[in-house]
Amino acid sequence: MEVKRISIREAKKRIKNDPELSKMLVRSGWREIALDLDGDGMADVSFSSTKVGRMIDTIAVDLSGNGEFNLYLHDYDGNGIPDTVFMVEDGSDAEALVAFGGEVELGFINLGVKVANLLVAEDFMNRELGLSLADLAAYLKTYAAVMLAGLEVRAEATGIDKVYYFLNDAGYYFLATVDGNKPKVRPFGTVLLRDGKLYIQTGKSKSVSKQIAENPFVEICCCLNGAWVRIAAELVEDDSVEVKEAMLERMPSLKGMYSADDDNMQMFYLKDATATFCSFATEPEVITF
Ligand SMILES: Cc1cc2nc3c(=O)[nH]c(=O)nc-3n(C[C@H](O)[C@H](O)[C@H](O)COP(=O)(O)O)c2cc1C
Repeated sequence: MEVKRISIREAKKRIKNDPELSKMLVRSGWREIALDLDGDGMADVSFSSTKVGRMIDTIAVDLSGNGEFNLYLHDYDGNGIPDTVFMVEDGSDAEALVAFGGEVELGFINLGVKVANLLVAEDFMNRELGLSLADLAAYLKTYAAVMLAGLEVRAEATGIDKVYYFLNDAGYYFLATVDGNKPKVRPFGTVLLRDGKLYIQTGKSKSVSKQIAENPFVEICCCLNGAWVRIAAELVEDDSVEVKEAMLERMPSLKGMYSADDDNMQMFYLKDATATFCSFATEPEVITF
């Protein structure tokens, strides 16, 4: 994943050079920039840095709309991805830690990166797309809320759900099959969790499909944010149209290559799977499903 980071200094420069953004500026200091996205006079989002003029490491968003920031994302380790997320309960000083450390990064929560990118992404803000500032404000609020909900789910995920989120959030993984007495490995990206089964998808016309038909024992390896999982399993074909349709809905880009009745699309679920999560910092965790 490419992480674009900008410093407070750069962000200020960009904002000042952009007439629309500079209209939104309500506060600008050595360590903080606050923007009023919807024009109601109150700041909706703040970008700040713990060190003067350095990279933005904290993003605060007003999700409540009452003019007070209540969602905070902090990039503690400076990799551009927030690793601490907390909410401030409305009307009180209590902070609720929503997620911390590996769980946030595992959840692919890069709101900080996204928002920082918004500041530089001409095409998003841009008149070409006809996006108004109110649209941007709505987007940010929805995006943060969706992310927050996703975070909570991920932080609590165990068993097959944890495996699914890892593969899904990583975006792709490597699938190894056996071809005669030789290994074959290739990138895969399809993943679907349905009725308690973890599915992957391929096409019957591919060599990988022929290898699975000969020998259904496979391994998957996937890395995400310094952790990795290795899954050993037997693949079992599921020819049901519903499962194929669910896959196509889940990953619509497949629709350009496959359809549920094309006699090529093939779905497999993982049987007797052993998933081993590893990182250099933690003891391995084994999940079977
Ligand atoms: C990021 C990425 C994700 C991919 N995901 C899949 C997938 O989920 N299913 C699939 O059949 N092919 C997928 N492919 C294409 C396969 O890697 C490619 O067709 C490969 O050659 C299949 O292996 P084989 O040549 O042994 O049949 C993906 C390719 C990339 C780059």
